[in-house]
Amino acid sequence: MLRRTRLQARSETAPPSVLQAPKLQAIDFAVERVQARSVADLGGVWAVEGGYVRYALERPGVERGVLVDTGITDAVRAAAAADPRLRLVAGEFGATSSVAAVGEVDVVLLFDVLLHQVAPDWDEVLRRYAQTSRCIVVVEPTWTGDEVVRLWDLGQDGYRAATPSDGAQPDWSRLDEVHPRYGRPHRDVHEYWQWGLPDAARRKVMTDLGWRCVYWADHGPWRDVATARTVASVYVAPDVD
Ligand SMILES: C[S@@+](CC[C@H](N)C(=O)[O-])C[C@H]1O[C@@H](n2cnc3c(N)ncnc32)[C@H](O)[C@@H]1O
Repeated sequence: MLRRTRLQARSETAPPSVLQAPKLQAIDFAVERVQARSVADLGGVWAVEGGYVRYALERPGVERGVLVDTGITDAVRAAAAADPRLRLVAGEFGATSSVAAVGEVDVVLLFDVLLHQVAPDWDEVLRRYAQTSRCIVVVEPTWTGDEVVRLWDLGQDGYRAATPSDGAQPDWSRLDEVHPRYGRPHRDVHEYWQWGLPDAARRKVMTDLGWRCVYWADHGPWRDVATARTVASVYVAPDVD
């Protein structure tokens, strides 16, 4: 099933097999919908090495890509060196300095990252990029409950059950210690799953800004996490037809 949907994703150049069809399909839709010339991929490095923004750069009309991440790798640097259309921004993408460094952009990609965002929280990240873009694409594990949940509040067993078994698990005795790399408490570090985000909560943030959801797809259970489903959404600004 996964293989079939991968093959269905439109691409002149076959994407690396790690790229997921729901994300490629959402990129295709968003780029066409707003006739995008520029795309920013926020947190597009781990395991995919900028693959989604590079895929976006293959879409007709896209001339410029930006990739923001705290973990820029040599492979990503090499890709940017080989393609002058791709610009790298090293740092926390929620920081106002990163928003400014990205600048005005047509499409923002948030793939498997929003549920990790604390200080600024996920909703503030959406608001910040809504000021500088026309289209925001979110694909991520989406909480099946009705309310937003801070996952630490579930306790250790609940946290484990609500997060991937092979995902980063914290040392619970050190949650309030400052992480040396990020300069913030471990409990606020984006390497860990932070939030259970229902689709309705994300959508409300965007509709409160006057944005519209113009594409929505539920791609089914998110791996073995019983409380998460892969949901893809594309939002557009009020001035987009
Ligand atoms: C779970 S991986 C997702 C990678 C890719 N977007 C995908 O869909 O496969 C999270 C990536 O986002 C980056 N990341 C998460 N939060 C970030 C933040 N606030 N600022 C910069 N990078 C962030 C991580 O370093 C990592 O590369």
